[in-house]
Amino acid sequence: MTADPSSANTADPRLGARASGPLTGTVRLPGDKSISHRALIFGALAEGRTTIRGLLEGHDVIATADAMRAFGARVERHVDDAGEAVWTVDGVGVGALIEPAALLDFGNSGTGARLLLGMVAGHGIAVRFDGDASLRKRPMGRVLAPLELMGARVCDSADDRLPLTLKGTRDPIPIEYRLPVPSAQVKSAVLLAGLNSPGLTTVIEPEPTRDHTERMLVHFGARLDISRDPDGARRIALHGRPRLTGQAVTVPGDPSSAAFPLVAGLIVPGSRVTIRGVMVNPSRAGLITTLQEMGAKLTLANEREDGGEPVADVTVEAGPLTGVEVPAERAPSMIDEYPALAVAAAYARGTTVMRGLSELKVKESDRLAAVAAGLAVNGVDVRVDGDDLIVAGGAGRVAGGGTVETHMDHRIAMAFLVMGLASETPVLVDDGAMIATSFPDFVPLMRGLGADLGPVSDWPDTAPAGEPGA
Ligand code: S3P
Repeated sequence: MTADPSSANTADPRLGARASGPLTGTVRLPGDKSISHRALIFGALAEGRTTIRGLLEGHDVIATADAMRAFGARVERHVDDAGEAVWTVDGVGVGALIEPAALLDFGNSGTGARLLLGMVAGHGIAVRFDGDASLRKRPMGRVLAPLELMGARVCDSADDRLPLTLKGTRDPIPIEYRLPVPSAQVKSAVLLAGLNSPGLTTVIEPEPTRDHTERMLVHFGARLDISRDPDGARRIALHGRPRLTGQAVTVPGDPSSAAFPLVAGLIVPGSRVTIRGVMVNPSRAGLITTLQEMGAKLTLANEREDGGEPVADVTVEAGPLTGVEVPAERAPSMIDEYPALAVAAAYARGTTVMRGLSELKVKESDRLAAVAAGLAVNGVDVRVDGDDLIVAGGAGRVAGGGTVETHMDHRIAMAFLVMGLASETPVLVDDGAMIATSFPDFVPLMRGLGADLGPVSDWPDTAPAGEPGA
């Protein structure tokens, strides 16, 4: 198999994975996607130069970089003497964005689209937003509702979905907004709109979500008051019209990408894998907690701060896992990791119950349905009960042999390729193209650890019909 899926037979987008020998090695992962988007956005809203190291160069983040150029920022990629990519953003300052000349296409990226809807809402410009077939299906009403309260207007949209035009206001009304869904994207959109508001914009989150926007706002010079309400909800108050100034940002390794080699290292017998520099911010660390509860041999070493975020080197060793109950309150801290966790659960002894997964239905695909279908087609005993996912583990054994429908969802593709690394018969995914949105080097990185996965067209023993092992 070739290491680069893009070099494969383009007529066949399928990737496959089959039982592999022990995975071993130490790797670094691409930069965190959430932080990469935000570094570009705050860099463009700051005065002066922002320098970003470790930016994730996946399609989603590149779409945000292109958008920031369209708003008037100068965004450039350089390579330093050590051969490392360094991105610079020369910002325009809060309130000084220009109106893009053309429609902005966010591809597959809900984060890029939703955060920039917020940013546009607080500027007196009109912008047309669009995305791919997956993004066009995703609900935008959750961000548009508070942005309309702040004075923005939505035009030419069907059903609050993309494509749509947002007309922002140069004097956004400061609001106090209680999040009806636990969403960092909604929180961030309101705070971004509030940046150009003359007063105090307050977001109240009953369930804490990832806090990268708050951390980065402070890093760029904004004033935020964060407190707890008597009911325990987190109250974030932003003082409007700050002067943001360009900063140095180091993007730590993405824990959502780390999930895939970590779970692979746990389920492929004999493996030992270390991932350096993984962000372990508590608002993102639910998977690590859950895997430890399942009995995973998982250790954190060299815990430190990098770029204002806690990071650590994470090592896993293969070994038996036990089913657990994952409480609904933990979902926001591991919302993107359920596909990987479901794969770990399929190999565990006993049943894993993952509660409160309603938000999984509005990701790049309906992930609750896609995970359940992918497990079932590979012989795993799985059930969806309301918003809960219930997986009866095979105690180290998964049949495999199925082709998983990815529904344009990168994490569905990567999770099921990981599952195939220890299954009795190979696992195929119908299309691996979307992996490039968040983890462009997934295939070569996993192959470097010893994983046998890649384009199905390179498997000499795969029949044209695509049934593994045929
Ligand atoms: C993200 C927030 C989460 C997450 C997404 C990235 C962010 O979405 O699933 O991948 O960067 O703010 P929600 O805000 O919809 O939960």
